[in-house]
Amino acid sequence: MDGTRRGERLADWFDGRLGIHRLGRKYLRKVFPDHWSFLLGEICLYSFVVLVLTGVYLTLFFHPSMNEVTYHGSYTPLNGVRMSEAYASTLEISFEVRGGLLIRQLHHWAALVFVAGMLTHMMRHFFTGSFRKPREVNWLFGWLLLFLGLFEGLFGYSLPDDLLSGTGLRFVDGALLSVPVVGTYLSMSLLGGEFPGDDVVARFYSLHVLVIPGIMAALVVAHVLLVVHHKHTQFAGPGRTERNVVGAPFLPVYLAKAGGFFFLVFGVLALLAGVATINPVWAYGPYRPDQVSTGAQPDWYLGFAEGLVRIMPGWEIDLRGHTLALGVFIPIVVFPLLLAFIGVYPFLEARFTKDDREHHILDRPRNRPVRTGIGAAWISLYLVLLAGGGNDLVATRLHLSINTVTWAVRVAVFVVPAVAFVVTRRICLGLQLRDLELVEHGRETGVIKRLPHGEYVEVRRPLDQARRYTLTAHRQPAAAVERARTGPGHAAPSGPDPESG
Ligand code: HEM
Ligand code: HEM
Repeated sequence: MDGTRRGERLADWFDGRLGIHRLGRKYLRKVFPDHWSFLLGEICLYSFVVLVLTGVYLTLFFHPSMNEVTYHGSYTPLNGVRMSEAYASTLEISFEVRGGLLIRQLHHWAALVFVAGMLTHMMRHFFTGSFRKPREVNWLFGWLLLFLGLFEGLFGYSLPDDLLSGTGLRFVDGALLSVPVVGTYLSMSLLGGEFPGDDVVARFYSLHVLVIPGIMAALVVAHVLLVVHHKHTQFAGPGRTERNVVGAPFLPVYLAKAGGFFFLVFGVLALLAGVATINPVWAYGPYRPDQVSTGAQPDWYLGFAEGLVRIMPGWEIDLRGHTLALGVFIPIVVFPLLLAFIGVYPFLEARFTKDDREHHILDRPRNRPVRTGIGAAWISLYLVLLAGGGNDLVATRLHLSINTVTWAVRVAVFVVPAVAFVVTRRICLGLQLRDLELVEHGRETGVIKRLPHGEYVEVRRPLDQARRYTLTAHRQPAAAVERARTGPGHAAPSGPDPESG
């Protein structure tokens, strides 16, 4: 009893100073809709936490220096080899630091899952239209996180200064050099001299462990606060309107689930790190500018940028004695444009569909065939370019000529997204008709009935009211609504929506 009172007094003391009770009462009962796709944002959040935790551990042992040393560590095949301190310390983390290899691999796996989580989370918001008013700014925050995440990964895997990461750095240097007029200045100021210079690891290190994670952490907080401010969107269903959110409260239901899910994500990442080798830098050897091999690919999320460069013809223009390396410059302009298109999409859609209303109920992708088609086209372009980035691997594995693969990708870059758009849009329209059929005639039961005059018909069971509501809760074209009202006992059907955008 005494203990309880003391506890209450302590809580009162804090509450008097911090006002936690009032804040808690407001936010701890915040309602979270129950849908599996909301977990994707959590995967991003938890893998980011894992990245920070493991990253901090790595900083304790990693030496961001390009000073040359001679290796005398426990990995005997490299004994006596000259290498940078950065590479030597990565070997030390992998072979001598207790738990070092596990943490390194955990960091790398978490990075891969983090970006995959962001892309899937982004696509789920894209296809369901949650980016519409009033969430455009939060979409931009998320998009910035993705953009920074790609570069954070690039800087991270450049740190160990192994042959693979050095090759990646050579690629970055080439891209900078192709920028007209200021290219050489950009390259020199990044590297601190001629390639590979002495400073790049230290510079990438500051960006990787301080600047970018700092900005990202602030953006994550702002992103989640905005979700709280706007409240969650939700899928259509009985009782769900543009003004409410149906689901479970933050405390205790959501917190318990989220806590469990954090450990699940951590556990899966730890399992991956424990059993699946990733980036075995000792097998590549230290970076030497005179060496390069086939199979030198960046981490998967930057494969599309690599693909852009690999499939581009090596065009060069001589402009009054200045060489314009268009073969590299055009891809590095297209690369951010491809990402920027996704960033500005909410504004483009609002402009083209002249839609200025607030939206809190999510779209079913089939009811927005054009948007869904654009999303499918974008993903297919990304995948085609990813294949282009691995053209050497495709060629050697499938015993094809690399020129054949490169030409196939060049053609596919234009053809596949167009086909993906048309096919996806048609599939969406087909699915809308299927919904219409379901709402109007009910579900097939598989029971065939013979009528007195000999005709066979299939017995249909009408959908329950909740399902009919869910299927028809999007904006209806006026003609279909009219047909539904005048038709015998039908709910409003979900016909192909001419407004779909
Ligand atoms: C937020 C997203 C982050 C991403 C995507 C990321 C990604 C990566 C990747 C891919 C590597 C190469 C790992 C390897 O050697 O195989 C790396 C290395 C490293 N990261 Fe990160 N990282 C992130 C955050 C952080 C943070 C917050 C810190 C520290 C506070 C950190 C510290 C390090 C260090 C010291 C290394 C070099 C050690 C090594 O490669 O063994 N990272 N990072
Ligand atoms: C570090 C990366 C990210 C983290 C930790 C994160 C986390 C979250 C969380 C936890 C939510 C609420 C649950 C949900 O709706 O899924 C959310 C919502 C949202 N996220 Fe992210 N996200 C990240 C990246 C992105 C990206 C790359 C985009 C898109 C470009 C994005 C766009 C959105 C939008 C529009 C919402 C609001 C949806 C709604 O209110 O229903 N996020 N995010």
